[in-house]
Amino acid sequence: MAEFDLLVTGGTLPDGRVTDIGVSGNRIAALGDLAGAEAGRRIDAEGDLVSPPFVDPHFHLDATLSYGLPRVNASGTLLEGIALWGELKEVTTQDEMVARALDYCDWAVSMGLLAIRSHVDTCDDSLKGVEAMLHVREVVKPYLDLQLVAFPQDGFLRDPTARENTIRALDMGVDVVGGIPHFERTMADGAASVRELCKIAAERGLMVDMHCDESDDPMSRHIETLTAETQRLGLHGRVNGSHLTSMHSMDNYYVSKLLPLMAEAEVSAVPNPLINIMIQGRHDTFPKRRGMTRVREMQAHGIRVGWGQDCVRDPWYPLGTADMLDVAFMGLHVAQMSSPEEMRRCFDMVTIENAAILHLEDYGLHEGAQASFVVLDAGDPIEALRLRPDRLCVVSKGKVVSEKARNDARLSIAGRPGRVRRRHAV
Ligand code: FE2
Repeated sequence: MAEFDLLVTGGTLPDGRVTDIGVSGNRIAALGDLAGAEAGRRIDAEGDLVSPPFVDPHFHLDATLSYGLPRVNASGTLLEGIALWGELKEVTTQDEMVARALDYCDWAVSMGLLAIRSHVDTCDDSLKGVEAMLHVREVVKPYLDLQLVAFPQDGFLRDPTARENTIRALDMGVDVVGGIPHFERTMADGAASVRELCKIAAERGLMVDMHCDESDDPMSRHIETLTAETQRLGLHGRVNGSHLTSMHSMDNYYVSKLLPLMAEAEVSAVPNPLINIMIQGRHDTFPKRRGMTRVREMQAHGIRVGWGQDCVRDPWYPLGTADMLDVAFMGLHVAQMSSPEEMRRCFDMVTIENAAILHLEDYGLHEGAQASFVVLDAGDPIEALRLRPDRLCVVSKGKVVSEKARNDARLSIAGRPGRVRRRHAV
């Protein structure tokens, strides 16, 4: 009988170690020199990068792949996107939502994206989106971890039935409490919504992930209330602020007080660079603000920061690839994280940092961890960011779920045939 069900040989880990990985069942059974071991199946990584799977901490699976339905977002603003989504959710069916979400999950798996935290709109009285996403969560469970956030898109207090529907969604099994304080009618209502939603989370023992201050208004300071409630209710390490784009425009003195408070409360942050760069600054002329929150400054204070994708082909964003390396690549540029250490950190942000934000258990490449990983056609994390290369093999919970042959371009230039040498060791 074979010692391992699956043996991946000669992979380079993100920290540079070259190792074999032995998988038994859905667990990593051994790491190290396993060349002589018997295995049900062997895959030679040939020195390629073997990474823990990509994790997306911010997505909208109920809206994805709906671009153009029923029309496109002409202004490109957040507010037109919300209005457009309002039109779509009136007419789309539960079955259509399920089909689009499963399409996206297939795509995600092929990119080595094996865990997603998705917000699901709770402002539709029928809760068809919630039912659809709960169904999808069960279907994909064998190969993709889907965490759902109850998201009152039209405002927890602003929408007349959002409170009741959000609580119903949590009763139905949605995992995390969401909110959108900057969309409430007043700053005071925004703060009140944060307080009530954090109380609900504390009473139910749930995590919190709010769309927070997704605006260019420097006075949008709901992150302050979210941090204070986290501290007051003892929710340390269980609360995330998504977007935080207003922090880009905030007064520097105010931020110098805010960041230590976030660190003390262990509030994490998830900017969504593709969406932030596209949506923010739409009301500016020039200079035009780009809405990226203060990533390096938060990290310098010890605040955990991940990169999120947010949208792929939906009312807010026409593009997207389900590739967290695209997300990190854009984040790296907009946050100006260009030193070798910062670039490596951008890779960590779409893997281990995001996994920590989601509280994923048994994540990583160590003995006893869940056997989920991806082999990339790159030598190291920085090269992966530069090339955003093919995912040659994706293993989820011990099973090979996606494979792709190497596909290098072959040149025929003036009698000088050859191959493009894309890979260069750092
Ligand atoms: Fe979002």
